[in-house]
Amino acid sequence: MPVLGLGTWMLTSHTVESVQHAFELGYRLVDTSADYLTQPGIGRAIRRGDLPRDALFVVIKVEEDEDGYAATIKNLDELRLAYADLVLVHRPPKKGVGDDIWRGLMRAREEGLARDIGVCSYKARQLEQLGELTGELPAVHQIEWSPFGHSLDMLNFCHANDIVVQAYSPLTRGKRLADGRLTELARKYGRSPAQLLIRWNLQHGVVPLPKAYREDHQRENIAVFDFELTEQDMAALDSFNEHFSALEKLDYLA
Ligand SMILES: NC(=O)c1ccc[n+]([C@@H]2O[C@H](COP(=O)([O-])OP(=O)(O)OC[C@H]3O[C@@H](n4cnc5c(N)ncnc54)[C@H](OP(=O)(O)O)[C@@H]3O)[C@@H](O)[C@H]2O)c1
Repeated sequence: MPVLGLGTWMLTSHTVESVQHAFELGYRLVDTSADYLTQPGIGRAIRRGDLPRDALFVVIKVEEDEDGYAATIKNLDELRLAYADLVLVHRPPKKGVGDDIWRGLMRAREEGLARDIGVCSYKARQLEQLGELTGELPAVHQIEWSPFGHSLDMLNFCHANDIVVQAYSPLTRGKRLADGRLTELARKYGRSPAQLLIRWNLQHGVVPLPKAYREDHQRENIAVFDFELTEQDMAALDSFNEHFSALEKLDYLA
């Protein structure tokens, strides 16, 4: 899996051109979901470009009240792709842990419609229960994740169980980019606050999925491989944690 991806929630204006531009800059992972309304545009961008399909990593989601297998096919039809690299359950269902949906995703994978399968926003005990009921833990856990809102316990749990963590809303939807402590650290590195948040993810072994429509944002967010945060500054960023959520709450906290 690429170590960094492009989020596409709210990328509804000029999706094709925007995703094509991201590919030109070097992005290879795209995260989407039917309710983002970006699937048709992403599919078109992939077909119009000259990158081979296996150079790209497409992440899609099925809703918690859908049939996992049928919803995978429906989303692939919208994308007009033969397979997704990763299919995620969008959130835990209200009742239970979604073991039926999960079995649908296992079937989709067996039939070559999904390369790998995972979930979003599960609590640790829900992950464990899913594993107990189906014999298989998710390959990936996608959760809201930034210095201002995260759980190192969840990260440790995932890494101990070989689950890759992907970070959604890694830029706090822009809500905390002006935080004084963050801007001061960014100045020290001669980087932007967004670049520091992305770098913090990478150094924690988390795959960030920053969404950017603006071309300068896309460019800035991928220019993060030529500097490194010190251990001390990683710890300083960790200490910003106040379980902040740009959405509503960090659902995966116990
Ligand atoms: N699994 C889930 O339940 C779930 C939930 C939420 C999100 N996600 C995924 O995660 C992705 C990312 O999360 P998100 O869209 O919520 O928020 P985000 O990536 O934290 O923030 C996106 C916002 O930050 C701005 N931005 C991007 N780069 C910037 C930069 N360098 N400097 C300043 N501002 C910058 C963007 O502006 P412009 O667009 O104008 O450039 C946009 O307004 C989503 O797009 C989606 O793919 C998944």
